[in-house]
Amino acid sequence: MPDIILETQNLKKYFKTRRGMLHAVDGVNLRIERGKTLGIVGESGCGKSTLGRTIVHLYEPTAGKILFNGTDISQLKKKEQKRLHTDMQMIFQDPFSSLNPRMSVQELILEPMLVNDIYDTREQVYAASAKLMDIVGLAKRLASAYPHELDGGRRQRIGIARALSVGPTFIVCDEPVSALDVSIQAQILNLLMDLQDEMGLTYMFITHDLSVVKHISNEIAVMYMGQVVEKAASDELFAHPLHPYTQALIAAIPTPDIDDGGFSDLEPIKGEVVSPVNPAPGCRFAVRCPYASSGCTDQELTLKEVRQKHYVACPYIETEEENDNTKV
Ligand SMILES: Nc1ncnc2c1ncn2[C@@H]1O[C@H](COP(=O)(O)OP(=O)(O)OP(=O)(O)O)[C@@H](O)[C@H]1O
Ligand SMILES: [Mg+2]
Repeated sequence: MPDIILETQNLKKYFKTRRGMLHAVDGVNLRIERGKTLGIVGESGCGKSTLGRTIVHLYEPTAGKILFNGTDISQLKKKEQKRLHTDMQMIFQDPFSSLNPRMSVQELILEPMLVNDIYDTREQVYAASAKLMDIVGLAKRLASAYPHELDGGRRQRIGIARALSVGPTFIVCDEPVSALDVSIQAQILNLLMDLQDEMGLTYMFITHDLSVVKHISNEIAVMYMGQVVEKAASDELFAHPLHPYTQALIAAIPTPDIDDGGFSDLEPIKGEVVSPVNPAPGCRFAVRCPYASSGCTDQELTLKEVRQKHYVACPYIETEEENDNTKV
C-alpha cells in the first residue's frame, strides 16, 4: 500500500464575485505519496495557487476534505491549525513580496522559528538559523544583508530556509522558479530535490512551465478551470498525453530549433477561455476542443483510469479494456 501523506476529496474553493460564484477549485481529488513530488500544471487562472493555498489552510475550503496523514484537516480549530502550520509550508513565486524589506536575512530566517516556538532558547534558534543558511547555500556573510541587496535566486533561498525552519514534512512550492533567470532556476530546482532526498520531504510543485515540472515530479496533475483533467506518472504523461488539453500544452512547449538557434514555432491553444464564474456542466475545455461534441457537455465528467495509473476526464478516451471490447 502506498504511504499517502496528503489526499483531497472533492475539494472545492469558490470565490464570491459581483458576477457570481467563481469556481476556482471545483472538485479536486488528489493523493500524494510521502517523499514524492506531485506536479500541478495548467494555464494562468486555472486554480493552481488557490488549490495550494486551500491545502495549506491559507483559504477555507468551500467543500470537500483534505486528509493529512489520514486525518481530515479541513475543519480544524485555530489551535490545531497552528500545529499544522509547522507540518505544512508554502514557498512562493516572488519571495521579495513575502519578505519584510526591513528585516535582515538572519532575522527573516529566525522569525518563523520564534513565532512558532520551535526552540526553547535564543541560542538554539540562532544556531538553527546559521545551519539553515548553510543548508540552502547562503554564505555566512549574508546574515546581515537585506532582501533588496540580493538577487532573485538568493531571495528564493531565504524563502526556502524560512519554510524549512519550522520542520515541515509537506511543502507546496508555488512557481518557485518562475521569476528567476533560467541559469538560476536549475540551481534552485537542484536544491529542492537535494533537500527532498535528505529530509524525506513531500512536495506539491505548482508551475505553468511543463519543462520544469517534468524533471522534478514523480506524478503530474493537469488542471483546467478548477478541475483535474489528467493525472499520471511524469514519464507516462509526457510519453502518452491523452486529454486534448494536455496534448495542446505539451505541443506548446518550446523546443530549441538547432538550425537557426531560436525556438521552433509554438502551437497556441485555440479558442476562447470560458469564464470560471457559474460554469456550465460538463467538460470546460469543450469550447476549445477540436474533438468536442454534445457528449462532452451533457454529462459531468470524472477521471477514469484508462491506462495503468493514468487517469483522464474525457468521454472519448476509452480504457484499454473498452478498446479491446470494441475490437472483438
Ligand atoms: N482571492 C480571490 N478572490 C476572487 N477570485 C480569485 C481569488 N484568488 C483567485 N481568484 C480567481 O480564481 C481563479 C484561479 O486563480 P489562481 O490564482 O488560483 O490561478 P493560477 O492557476 O494560480 O494562475 P497563475 O498561473 O496566473 O498563478 C482565477 O479566475 C482568479 O481570478
Ligand atoms: Mg498561481
